[in-house]
Amino acid sequence: MSMVGKVFIVTGGASGIGRATVKKLLEKSAKVHVLDVADASPDQWVLGGQAPYYKVDVSSRDSVKAAFDKIAAQDERVSGLVHCAGILRTSDSSTGEDESVRRLWEVNTMGTWYTNTQFHQLVKAARERNAGAQDRTGVSIVNLGSMASVRGLVAMSGYCASKHAVLGLTRTFAQEWGPEGFRVNAVAPGAVNTPMIQGMTGGDNINGAYVGAVKSLSEPEEIADTIIFLLSEGASSITGQAIEVNGGWP
Ligand SMILES: NC(=O)c1ccc[n+]([C@@H]2O[C@H](COP(=O)([O-])OP(=O)(O)OC[C@H]3O[C@@H](n4cnc5c(N)ncnc54)[C@H](O)[C@@H]3O)[C@@H](O)[C@H]2O)c1
Repeated sequence: MSMVGKVFIVTGGASGIGRATVKKLLEKSAKVHVLDVADASPDQWVLGGQAPYYKVDVSSRDSVKAAFDKIAAQDERVSGLVHCAGILRTSDSSTGEDESVRRLWEVNTMGTWYTNTQFHQLVKAARERNAGAQDRTGVSIVNLGSMASVRGLVAMSGYCASKHAVLGLTRTFAQEWGPEGFRVNAVAPGAVNTPMIQGMTGGDNINGAYVGAVKSLSEPEEIADTIIFLLSEGASSITGQAIEVNGGWP
């Protein structure tokens, strides 16, 4: 799975699954544009050069577009988008936490809408500038769903709704943009050992909360491996799918 010379965009790249994906792509000699709402990446390897960093709020199209415009000015051909930026909050359906649910929708769902559609525009504009509109060179988008995309979870109504919608967008974009050479898939992790879930459960309780057949808690690198496969030519016939990477949740 050679990634040498390929260019990718990774959102949420300052932490967790996004950070692990950036690191693996750089190890494979790809160039990665790293987007995150954090002020800066904590890592020495995201300093510019092969991994330029952009402070972006994915819940704002203007913010996403400003970064994508800078990327388009640097790289004529971008091979893929990995959209990892997201938030997790519980929702108490007995009290009606409107603001919390709205924010989940803005970041997780509208963030997927803004980044995916802006990426589609970026690739199409680059093709028109260069090889012409007939260019069908393969492009891959990987969105981060969740087990909350495929089932209901107690106290997680807002998160589940936002992540179910991520699959709806993924499957629809796969159909709409497939004839243009875009593959669009989602990865649906179970519990992953990142700051997101550590912050929620206190870490030690994770194994008790979600019990998988082979493991209950995955490492972010294990999710990144599936993401990188979906970016690669090895996945050339896979699109519109949600790949569950969850240690075997029942
Ligand atoms: N950790 C898990 O157990 C788990 C399970 C299933 C799905 N996921 C999904 O995987 C993705 C990555 O999660 P993670 O576990 O790596 O979490 P994380 O908290 O470690 O990383 C998420 C990153 O997204 C960034 N982010 C948050 N809001 C943003 C915004 N508005 N604009 C730009 N960046 C923003 C954060 O700054 C952070 O760097 C998320 O979509 C999450 O819902 C995680």
